[in-house]
Amino acid sequence: MSGPNNDYDPVEVTPLHPDEVDRMKREALDAIAAAGDLPALKQVRLDHAGDRSPLGLANREIGALPPQARKEAGIRVGGARREVKEALERRTEELEAEQEARILTEEAVDVTLPTDREPRGARHPLTTIQERIAEIFVAMGWEVAEGPEVEAQWMNFDALNMGPDHPARTMQDTFWLEPSGSGLVLRTHTSPVQARTMLERTPPIYVVCPGRTFRTDELDATHSPVFSQVEGLAIDKGLSMAHLKGTLDHFAAGIFGEGVVTRFRPSYFPFTEPSAEVDVLCFVCRGESPAVESCRTCKGEGWIEWGGCGVVNPRVLVACGVDPDEWSGFAFGMGLERTLMFRNDIADMRDIFEGDVRFTLPFGLEV
Ligand code: DAH
Repeated sequence: MSGPNNDYDPVEVTPLHPDEVDRMKREALDAIAAAGDLPALKQVRLDHAGDRSPLGLANREIGALPPQARKEAGIRVGGARREVKEALERRTEELEAEQEARILTEEAVDVTLPTDREPRGARHPLTTIQERIAEIFVAMGWEVAEGPEVEAQWMNFDALNMGPDHPARTMQDTFWLEPSGSGLVLRTHTSPVQARTMLERTPPIYVVCPGRTFRTDELDATHSPVFSQVEGLAIDKGLSMAHLKGTLDHFAAGIFGEGVVTRFRPSYFPFTEPSAEVDVLCFVCRGESPAVESCRTCKGEGWIEWGGCGVVNPRVLVACGVDPDEWSGFAFGMGLERTLMFRNDIADMRDIFEGDVRFTLPFGLEV
């Protein structure tokens, strides 16, 4: 059995010799000072302060010394290791501060630099189509008229030949305003602007009235409780269905492009007589659907329902103070979301309302 080697002289054990410990320490301190960045310092830490570094190995030798020699060697090696450790800490702090300062200058953002990456706003397609419509009519000498969204029931229904018991009232699911009996509604169409205009002006009258309208519809791909319409009204001497057809053809060409084909289908509206629905020939399949693959734009119909129109009912003229023996006129009304949907091939009406720029950007930055 071997006992402690009492004759063991620490000075004789090379790694513990004061000069040697001093040399290891200086080497470590030099390497620390020379480390130019944090990764380099990490390597220095492993090489000079780790368990397998010269000082680490020297530390292990101490245990093999005779007890009386351990203290002195321990003080020497421990002191050297402590100095190295402190130097490492100081250098780490220095390098971290340097790194931070470098990041601050390298990644500094000059907020005063001019940039064109700022997205520029543009008006909504629903606004621009309304303006396009107004331009088409203003160019023909028409005026743009507006009316309130909260409307008198009389204007919205009665003046337009829809008395309290008229079945057509139920065609339009109405938001009635409280208190009940207030006689106020959120207008269900832009047609009351016809009545307001006739009451306010004297013929001849040529007006278009774009605006927001409301019905108690659920929001889905083709309906919305808030939607938009454009109304048209012309009152003059000798106006007929032929003038209406010519006006709508010009309107359709301005919105959908030259060469668009329209047709009238007999229909019924209380405020016009005769009444028609106006369709445009599907400009995607050109009426070939369903002979060709069923068309997504017209749903295989070949034609797209665009709006209602007709010759103003004399009862409406009378209600609005216009003499039907002297004046006649025509009127029309279209849904603007629908117009936008088939003009721009939009499958879901909700896209128009959601305000997502990915939807509006392809329309261009018209301001
Ligand atoms: N107001 C009708 C609606 O909302 C549309 C309409 C039809 C307007 C015929 C008119 C017209 O001016 O003559 O369904």
